[in-house]
Amino acid sequence: MDTLIHPTHCEIVVDSPDNDDDIRELGRICKEWLLNKQIVLLRKQNTDSNYFAKLSESIARDGIYNWRQCSWMPNGDLIELPDQVAGNIGYTTTPEANNDPWNNSKKLAWNSTTAAAIDKTLPRINPFDLKEPNTYPVQRVTGEKKGKFGGGIFGTGDLDWHCNLGNYYEADGVGLQAIKDAGDASTFYANSVPALKEMPDELRARCEGKRATFLYDHKKWSDVSKMHPMQRITMQFLALNLDRREMEMNLIQKNRKGIEGIYFHRLNNMKIEGDETLVQDLYEWMFQDKYVYEHRWETGDIIFMDQLITQHKREFVAEELLEKRVLHRFTFMVNNDDEWVKEQNSI
Ligand SMILES: [Fe+2]
Repeated sequence: MDTLIHPTHCEIVVDSPDNDDDIRELGRICKEWLLNKQIVLLRKQNTDSNYFAKLSESIARDGIYNWRQCSWMPNGDLIELPDQVAGNIGYTTTPEANNDPWNNSKKLAWNSTTAAAIDKTLPRINPFDLKEPNTYPVQRVTGEKKGKFGGGIFGTGDLDWHCNLGNYYEADGVGLQAIKDAGDASTFYANSVPALKEMPDELRARCEGKRATFLYDHKKWSDVSKMHPMQRITMQFLALNLDRREMEMNLIQKNRKGIEGIYFHRLNNMKIEGDETLVQDLYEWMFQDKYVYEHRWETGDIIFMDQLITQHKREFVAEELLEKRVLHRFTFMVNNDDEWVKEQNSI
């Protein structure tokens, strides 16, 4: 197994292992590279959803994080809607975070009883227990017109630079795998680690010790009216969760290996205390071509990425292409198993 190191990312050159022990071992290797290089590419892997689930499950101590949002079978069939509504409400918080699932002024209890009730209708599946191929449900990213609501999330439209870590307790790792008709579309990945390392002293000085505030704003992300109802429900509940929707983060972040980068999420009303132009100046510095990796998908390709110190975007792709393209998406913890983000960012 070779690993190719690039300034922005790394690529593990390997064929998909066909036994569970080797998949677990590959998951551990991916985790190490995620911490070291933040963005990890594996080309032309097995497209069986069980394989991608096993690999993602092996990266993090507690396995796949977004399993409640895995609303589809790989063929695009939507799992029972009532279960998914419960699951997507449940997703908006964790028992550790002690947040209520929606407007906390109503003080609706989120506790182990609620969690147990949801878990009963939508049980967590260990992908290593599955025998039949393509039986692990997935979060599909596609504009495919399937059934009444379409077959996935973020079907169409652009997505400007952002990351997927929305609050302290959430998953700081994401994996995407290209399943179908992805060849004509790219995803762009930016790595803030080299961008920070090479930053001019003056700009770096403006970042030192600074904190940024964020206000979750799903309406800025993409056209909400065109979203799949499952995604819209999740995002609206997230927006209603008063504890969750506001966040304050250090501008300069450190991962568990001590590697420094920048947390940047302009879609969530990012503001930096005491420096009104710094968000824009950083935007111009961080997303220069030399810090960006454009990945043109081929079927089976997997990209795992850190969400604390890398960002990604999708540029305009014709709607007809997005209607055909299917990606699978899982999230998991990279640094954040034990509240790393909260610890590092509390005042
Ligand atoms: Fe994203």
